[in-house]
Amino acid sequence: MNNKPILITGGAGFIGSNFVLQWVQAGGSIVNLDLYTYAGNLENLLALKGNPEHELVHGDICDGSLVAELLREYRPSAILHFAAESHVDRSIASPDEFIRTNVQGTFTLLKQARHYWSSLTGEEKEAFRFLHVSTDEVYGTLEPDAPPFSETTPYAPNNLYAASKAASDHLVRAYFHTYKLPTLTTNCSNNYGPFQLPEKLIPLMILNALEEKPLPVYGDGGNIRDWLFVEDHCSAIAQVLAKGRIGETYNIGGNNERSNLQIVRMICGLVDELAPSKTIGDRSNLIRFVPDRPGHDRRYAMDASKIMREIGWRPSLTLETGLRKTVEWYLEHTEWLEHVRTGAYRDWIHRNYEERAAR
Ligand code: NAD
Ligand code: TYD
Repeated sequence: MNNKPILITGGAGFIGSNFVLQWVQAGGSIVNLDLYTYAGNLENLLALKGNPEHELVHGDICDGSLVAELLREYRPSAILHFAAESHVDRSIASPDEFIRTNVQGTFTLLKQARHYWSSLTGEEKEAFRFLHVSTDEVYGTLEPDAPPFSETTPYAPNNLYAASKAASDHLVRAYFHTYKLPTLTTNCSNNYGPFQLPEKLIPLMILNALEEKPLPVYGDGGNIRDWLFVEDHCSAIAQVLAKGRIGETYNIGGNNERSNLQIVRMICGLVDELAPSKTIGDRSNLIRFVPDRPGHDRRYAMDASKIMREIGWRPSLTLETGLRKTVEWYLEHTEWLEHVRTGAYRDWIHRNYEERAAR
């Protein structure tokens, strides 16, 4: 690992903070630009307090002059772009921020990255990369017996989050083809693991199961996602950065397709085992079917054979092991959970579930 820093955006969020911790622990240096939105949490980075290899910068990726200044000052060897509005339910309720951060923000970064890269020479220019972190949702939804998404599956986003990420992927592609900016794009399936906000399925269900609250399953619970432990996603990104071919996209996934109901039942079993309840008995009694998400994609699945073949990446954990580790992590981090459940978080839970139930 060279000692030049990389610039990462969104490194106080769920996946970004896991990446930052992994990168610095492996001896790397990072400048971390994050707006600290509701999803950005500095507590995720407490282990790096005072560590000179991690420089936190509070700011917006849509602020072109700030991005230009950071590039001039730190001369990073790469930009890793994680920052985004990332929650589908929020994109249905209020899409504006998704267009601003995911589309305008990515464009601003690309523009400044191109300017910076053009100013480099020799080895520095040769080595520079812009790595864009994206999602499987850009491909839309799969029929039950269709093959998984590959890198050549046509884009067909069905919700505002997916559409804004698809737009950002297209901008990255165009910067490579038009200006030869050395880009890499990764599209990953659903992540789970430490530091994920309990607005997403897995941590929400762990938390509600622990507190013996209803477990709200959208629709019939038959929607399928392909789950990957977050640290395996981070290791895939680091390997694509090191070995990926410029201009290429790489699909990342754990080959772990499960219906939401299967996932919720697995969580119930783990919580029953690790934190037995005296009153409720079997937590799956708490499962409640609630009105569905509009435009709810039925099935996602990733064909990750390209990254495995070309880069040699493999996930390190099975879903069973990863979920167990995750439930244990949430059981051990009650203070972190307390702190993320602020007033704004409670407002969102009210808006998404109480209003859904009243529909
Ligand atoms: P997250 O919502 O947990 O974190 C997003 C981070 O970006 C936060 O720290 C937030 O403060 C920051 N941010 C938001 N707007 C910003 C702005 N304008 N300027 C600077 N920082 C800003 O998201 P996540 O789940 O960690 O996802 C990270 C990336 O990975 C996203 O690009 C997402 O599309 C992609 N992705 C996520 C998943 C998943 O399952 N969570 C799967 C595949 C891909
Ligand atoms: P989510 O974690 O929001 O991720 P994404 O929408 O990016 O896949 O949701 C995962 C799946 O779980 C999705 O099919 C919606 C479903 N879901 C529920 O059934 N109940 C919930 O309370 C949440 C948050 C999600």
